[in-house]
Formats: sequence, structure tokens, C-alpha cells
Amino acid sequence: MHGVNLDMLGRRDPAHYGKLTLIELERQIVGFARELELEVHCFQTNSESEFIEHLHGITGSADGLLLNPGAWTHYAWSIHDALEIAALPAVEVHLSSVDSREEWRRVSVVRDLCIATVSGQGVEGYREALVRLSKALDG
Ligand code: DQA
Repeated sequence: MHGVNLDMLGRRDPAHYGKLTLIELERQIVGFARELELEVHCFQTNSESEFIEHLHGITGSADGLLLNPGAWTHYAWSIHDALEIAALPAVEVHLSSVDSREEWRRVSVVRDLCIATVSGQGVEGYREALVRLSKALDG
């Protein structure tokens, strides 16, 4: 699940986010998933309420979640609560190294609900996140 402004990849600062567009990133994610024999469904919205509604509806249709909520990560407690309701194993992913940027990016309101956080590894971070999720699902 990609959150706010992730649809602008390709137009955002490549030093932090690389050069791929969201469609290209999703293509890579689907490829990583295939290697791990996982099936992924990608979702992006700039609407916090749509993101929350998606979390409300996800239980029963997915085994786990990869989540890059974008800037919502740092303040959207409504997303924290919706993730808690979803009650699925989740991995937090960030393209950039959120812990070595501005102070406000070091706060994550979803981290306590996630089995792992992967940041600062760009697109490869999504492979790592899928590996972490897959291991957790295998028990
Ligand atoms: C991001 C990091 C956030 O701080 C930022 O607001 C984003 C993208 C990342 O993938 O590095 O929009 O989640």
C-alpha cells in the first residue's frame, strides 16, 4: 500500500526516491513477489480516508501487508488505528533513509504495529520487505 505523494515518483527528488515512476516500482515489486512465490496487489491513494477504508476491507483478502504511507507515516494516528484493526502482519517500507533525514521523519506512527521496518534501500527495500513478510507468514 503506497500512501500520499507516492504517485509522484519520477518527479520527486531522485537523491531520496530514485528515478522510477510508481508504475515501474510496482512492476519491480510484482517481480520480487513472483520470485518468492507471493501474489501482490498494489494500491495507491492520496486520500487518507481511502487508505483507511482499504485497510478496513483488507482482512480476509490478504495474508500480510507492505506499507509505505509516505508522509502520513509521521503523524496519521488514524492509519495506526486502522492498521491495528486490520490485524495482519505488516512491514513498513520507505525508499529513503527516514532516520537520517529531518527530525520529523524519524517519528513513525505505524512502526509499533509492524514486524519490521526497511528504509533507505530504494526499490531493493521492497524485496527485503517481502522476504521479511514471507518469513513471518511461513512461521
Ligand atoms: C517516504 C518517506 C517519507 O518521509 C516521505 O514523506 C515520503 C516517502 C519514503 O518512501 O522514503 O513521501 O515514505
